[in-house]
Amino acid sequence: MAEAIYPVPAAWSQDALIDGARYDAMYRRSVEEPEAFWAEEGRRLDWIRPFTKVKNTSFHEADFGIRWFEDGTLNLSANCLDRHLATRGDDVAILWEPDSPDDASRAITYRELHAQVCRLANLLKERGVKRRERVTIYLPMVPEAAVAMLACARIGAIHSIVFAGFSPDALAGRIEDCDSRVVLTADEGLRGGKRVPLKKNVDEALTHCPGVDTVVVLARTGASVPMVEGRDLAWAEAVGRQSEACEPEEMNAEDPLFILYTSGSTGKPKGVLHTTGGYAVWASMTHEYVFDYRPGQIYWCAADIGWVTGHSYIVYGPLANGATTVMFEGVPNYPDASRFWQVVDKYKVEIFYGAPTALRALMREGDEWVKKTSRASLRVLGSVGEPINPEAWEWYHKVVGEGRCPIVDTWWQTETGGAMITPLPGATALKPGSASRPMFGVAPALLDNDGQVLEGATDGCLVIADSWPGQMRTVWGDHERFFQTYFTTFKGYYFTGDGCRRDEDGYYWITGRIDDVINVSGHRMGTAEIESALVAHAKVAEAAVVGMPHPIKGQGIYAYVTCNTEVEPDEDLRRELVAWVRHEIGPIATPDVIQFTPGLPKTRSGKIMRRILRKIAENDLGSLGDTSTLADPSVVDNLIANRPAMA
Ligand code: WTA
Repeated sequence: MAEAIYPVPAAWSQDALIDGARYDAMYRRSVEEPEAFWAEEGRRLDWIRPFTKVKNTSFHEADFGIRWFEDGTLNLSANCLDRHLATRGDDVAILWEPDSPDDASRAITYRELHAQVCRLANLLKERGVKRRERVTIYLPMVPEAAVAMLACARIGAIHSIVFAGFSPDALAGRIEDCDSRVVLTADEGLRGGKRVPLKKNVDEALTHCPGVDTVVVLARTGASVPMVEGRDLAWAEAVGRQSEACEPEEMNAEDPLFILYTSGSTGKPKGVLHTTGGYAVWASMTHEYVFDYRPGQIYWCAADIGWVTGHSYIVYGPLANGATTVMFEGVPNYPDASRFWQVVDKYKVEIFYGAPTALRALMREGDEWVKKTSRASLRVLGSVGEPINPEAWEWYHKVVGEGRCPIVDTWWQTETGGAMITPLPGATALKPGSASRPMFGVAPALLDNDGQVLEGATDGCLVIADSWPGQMRTVWGDHERFFQTYFTTFKGYYFTGDGCRRDEDGYYWITGRIDDVINVSGHRMGTAEIESALVAHAKVAEAAVVGMPHPIKGQGIYAYVTCNTEVEPDEDLRRELVAWVRHEIGPIATPDVIQFTPGLPKTRSGKIMRRILRKIAENDLGSLGDTSTLADPSVVDNLIANRPAMA
């Protein structure tokens, strides 16, 4: 099959920060002389005490550890704010676009942002927040979310952002796991014209979290919400009476910066912990090189702050680089399907970074919604979160970018802190659907199931052979789980959980998760989490969840459910279970299909055969493989015969 290739346009390679030859030379140096390479890149930050040690890492059990710039000290909020004040204090740091185009937007300069961050930092200190203490942030997409992150970083507190679409239960679990005493939230969120009852969710969550003694509530919609005396503070008032001066704490490079919970193949979500120095170098460097970012350009990452993309590419990367970062509260199709491109025109956005699921949804609405906007300002387009299918890639390139803008398809993970495999706009010929080549310092390898390294053009399990500065350092509260999850499948390697193909040109093509994680609209969901939500329902005896192909979401959620014997499953129960899962986890976990079944295919030792369930969900009935090891092979015939029509 011939693959389309888009060479780097001549104009691009001439002007680019990094052209093809420079990429080759820098990449070689980054893996052959990492100490020298990273010592230089490390200097992109302002250090309080400059580091003298660069890399001290091992993926092996005997001397396992990941430390970067370990004797340096710095403050990341000072790197994102204070150091820009003299040169660009009056430049816009955050351009905020509200949910509705009829509401007022906001432009916040670096100087104003600095003042807001200091005030909130002082409030946190007034409430007794200390270095290394965890602060939970449950805010919608408003500038105060960035203020909250930076205020924590300023005083050395560790922030844990919980996506504002998560349920009270999910929020409570995350507050408890990291033992936070302080929650920053809003009265309500606003998305696509709908109100999200954030404070109500917090109140419900806190019935399980007696340790929380401070809730700061931002008035986003002005809805009246009950306030608990002594615990709940109105943001504007409490922050308003604070001083605008707050000295940044001197932090070690390896002091924790944030925790972000993410789903894995087993157990409850893990608190991925990132530290300060290496993460900041990685976020800043990748933001600059991947997007060919130049000072003064308007940059927009349309992710949510609740995901790692929002952390690294709305807040820390761009602000460390002194960029103007657009923050969008709304959704791509509200009030209509032109919304993204109208925002691009409104702010003359040059760099746009979005998710394939949004592109597929917009593509379905037709080209007119795009074509009635100008988009003349666009230079670079980015994609993140899931594989982009070539059809959506071509549409993005041809219709949105009018053939003019390179597409950077960035593969990475919450665990990696920033982009790992990605084209660079001025350096990499593009192949639609391929994340292409490794970022500096990234040593990808493909292994077979026995851990043998595969060479040349091949398919395999994607691992990374050596550490990079943005790598996560541990799972909060469970260092052993960190080692077990990522470094034992293949000894001496970081295991990504993704399958991947490498072609003749050395380009990487991510084929998707090979563990029990599904990727729904670019959101990672552990099948185990949805299963445990289902079995928590009184009428459910057993559940197995797998991914299924979905034209917009990439993957949909297919749940096989066995009810208790006295229960007659019907449409009402199906609706009830869908609502139940939405309530237990959040709307992103909504099952697309629920198939009731008297039994699940199990081996004689009682293990559910997910491979078979996946095939049935995919309607790939010709290749069910060997079913002879099943305890009761007739279960499979029954599942096939009763596959719901809507699946
Ligand atoms: C998938 C999001 C293909 C992958 C930044 C990975 C991708 C998981 C891409 C991490 C891409 C992310 N092409 N697949 N460009 N980007 N993925 O932690 O399966 O939310 O392991 O981080 O998303 O999801 P996470």
